[in-house]
Amino acid sequence: MPPAKKLIEVALPLDAINAASAREKSIRHGHPSTLHLWWARRPLAAARAVIFASLVDDPEDPSANPAFVAACRDLPGDGPNVAREGDSPRMKLFDFIERLVTWEATTDETIMGQARELIRIATDGNPPPLLDPFAGGGSIPLEAQRLGLEAHASDLNPVAVMINKAMIEIPPRFAGMAPVNPRDRKNLFTTEAQSSQRAVGGSVPVESGRGDSVNRPQAARLSQWKGAAGLAADVRYYGEWMRERAGSCSRDEDMSRL
Ligand SMILES: C[S@@+](CC[C@H](N)C(=O)[O-])C[C@H]1O[C@@H](n2cnc3c(N)ncnc32)[C@H](O)[C@@H]1O
Repeated sequence: MPPAKKLIEVALPLDAINAASAREKSIRHGHPSTLHLWWARRPLAAARAVIFASLVDDPEDPSANPAFVAACRDLPGDGPNVAREGDSPRMKLFDFIERLVTWEATTDETIMGQARELIRIATDGNPPPLLDPFAGGGSIPLEAQRLGLEAHASDLNPVAVMINKAMIEIPPRFAGMAPVNPRDRKNLFTTEAQSSQRAVGGSVPVESGRGDSVNRPQAARLSQWKGAAGLAADVRYYGEWMRERAGSCSRDEDMSRL
């Protein structure tokens, strides 16, 4: 029997992917386009759908991975494709893809976790790495990383390389770590100072993730910095600091011209 076709070779819920891609243009908060303008940036929804559909079988194919077909059957059957076309593994997968491509899915660990699990099953536990040698604004490697793949990116243009470093290389290195800036560190250590003295085990040192010892209540507080939240707090703090410094420099210049 010939190998199963991948979903992307057969069919995709294009209307939903197009709608999610168009909607992204008006998203201003948290979208990579706010990090740096990139003129030819591809929509994240399209990149996510294309990568996902390139990795999973068409569940209607007679040679499709049986474990993957079973996983598709287990997906919820309450979406528009099942309602319109009937209850089949492919229509359930279409409904899942329609949820996966929304902007909201990027921060929904349930949906993203399900997508990673479907890819894991479809690839027999061995998802391939992804290389985008012309990565530009980084939509493809970013979505590959979100879908649990090892992502590699390169580009001729150093600005594109910088964008990709900032988006897919640096954040994972600081994942789960607390910020280092004095404002957030002060909150971290002073708010817990009194309670930690009273707490059982309050003086037992544990590692904070950046090399300094903290006690157990502080460690619990440190663990609240999920994903790149600690890094984002540092970028916010030092960004404000730079803006203030730049503002006072330009004010000084204006004064000297008077
Ligand atoms: C259409 S853009 C890629 C857009 C990207 N997929 C995105 O979502 O932002 C094409 C990229 O290829 C890069 N490029 C062109 N020629 C190249 C070459 N010979 N080697 C590496 N990158 C190259 C350009 O700098 C540009 O960033």
